[in-house]
Amino acid sequence: MDASLLLSLALSAPLATLLLLAVARRFRWRLPPGSLGLPLIGETLQLITAYKTENPEPFIDDRVRRHGPVFITHVFGEPTVFSTDPEVNRLILQNEGKLFEVSYPGSISNLLGPRSLLLMKGELHKRMHSLTMNFNGSATIRRHFLLHIDRLIRLNLGSWSGRVLLMEEAKKITFELTMKQLMSIDPGEWTESLRKEYLLVIEGFFTVPITLVSATYRRAIRARTKVAEALAVIVRQRRREREEEKGAPKSDMLATLLVRDERFSDEEIVDFLVALLVAGYETTSTLMTLAVKFLTETPLALAQLKEEQEEISAKKDLLEGLEWIDYKSMPFTQCVVNETLRVANIVSGVFRRAMTDIPIKGGYVIPKGWKVFASFRAVHLNPENFKDARKFDPWRWQKSSSGNIYTPFGGGPRLCPGYELARVILSVFLNRLVTRFSWVPAEEDKLVFFPTTGTQKRYPIFVKQREDSAWK
Ligand code: HEM
Repeated sequence: MDASLLLSLALSAPLATLLLLAVARRFRWRLPPGSLGLPLIGETLQLITAYKTENPEPFIDDRVRRHGPVFITHVFGEPTVFSTDPEVNRLILQNEGKLFEVSYPGSISNLLGPRSLLLMKGELHKRMHSLTMNFNGSATIRRHFLLHIDRLIRLNLGSWSGRVLLMEEAKKITFELTMKQLMSIDPGEWTESLRKEYLLVIEGFFTVPITLVSATYRRAIRARTKVAEALAVIVRQRRREREEEKGAPKSDMLATLLVRDERFSDEEIVDFLVALLVAGYETTSTLMTLAVKFLTETPLALAQLKEEQEEISAKKDLLEGLEWIDYKSMPFTQCVVNETLRVANIVSGVFRRAMTDIPIKGGYVIPKGWKVFASFRAVHLNPENFKDARKFDPWRWQKSSSGNIYTPFGGGPRLCPGYELARVILSVFLNRLVTRFSWVPAEEDKLVFFPTTGTQKRYPIFVKQREDSAWK
């Protein structure tokens, strides 16, 4: 960018803030303090630069120090109220649909499709959220799905040897599990080619949603069409089988959607399935990868987790599947899951839009129409909320629970329906991993937090089958 342009933008930044504050005064809003940065781009570049490093905390810490726990900024094209305050975050989460409504960037909502749960609002959202919660709840996992989780994880780990890119493997496992859960489809060539298209869709989430400008976005739109067509074929076939009463009854998500009174169209069902695929894919595979990374870097925790898992496996016959009671006998593993979620902040927070002027603590007002970001990361990594907050310390969960300031899965009417499923998948994965393999990192790898949480090199490790492994 031309230096004089940069200078004039920089000089006009305070002007933009002053102008906005003047408007705010005119309408008697008392905006939270803060700075809107440069016109148009605001503070987006500072945010992205910080989140591309292992330590993005200064972006938030500096602003909290200067302005307090709730401040205004300007990111991703809009002035935004940024909350690092647990109480304000709770207000935002709990008042979904009343004071705030969900708001995703254009690229994400276009690629998801309008009938996805993530974009639904009002009564329909309520009904479909509750259906998705039930379908992903502990009763369904215990009765139908745990068996497949264990089987597919074992199948995948069975082919591991030498150097493994953990993030890639975790993504493959997660995709296969999701296809099984949503449509009872077992892994094979069809799922692998669908996954390749699907990866192109995900790439489009973080680009400018204008086909003329972005080749990635054009590719993503084409891939979205292909994924939708492939899924629509399955939906049609299953609908036909149901009408003709052919084939064994299935207990997957598609079966649940096909019997609903609402009579969803094929397109509606496809949008719904794509959204579930999107919501669980990156998140769960990142959770699996980072749990292993944090454990590798904390040998005492790994030793304790191994001991717990070996005790469970020792009681079982060779190749016997893990059962619900086994999952429920992993207290330390659950501490590791909690702590991974707290430190990694896979979903670092949620965007909403204010539906009306909303007074918040401190006498401030969030004006109607403003974007709001409730940062979970800032709450989870604040030493006032968690002692030595920036350290991976799974034992902290043995001492106390966190109350309601711990929200890795969000909360309120949009609470993540996959919260139990993600925990079960990680627990089974850790059991099968530590009882079968030992491993060392193959290269140094760093965490990054933009565009999503992950590691720079997809966490390469060298795995070695344990000599005393109970299952081969
Ligand atoms: C580590 C794993 C996961 C994390 C950290 C996570 C986190 C979250 C968070 C924070 C939200 C709230 C978004 C908001 O309030 O706007 C959410 C929503 C959602 N999650 Fe998850 N999630 C995970 C895994 C899963 C899985 C496995 C599924 C599959 C069922 C899933 C399905 C969804 C759906 C459909 C929503 C949208 C709910 C709605 O808008 O009503 N998630 N997730």
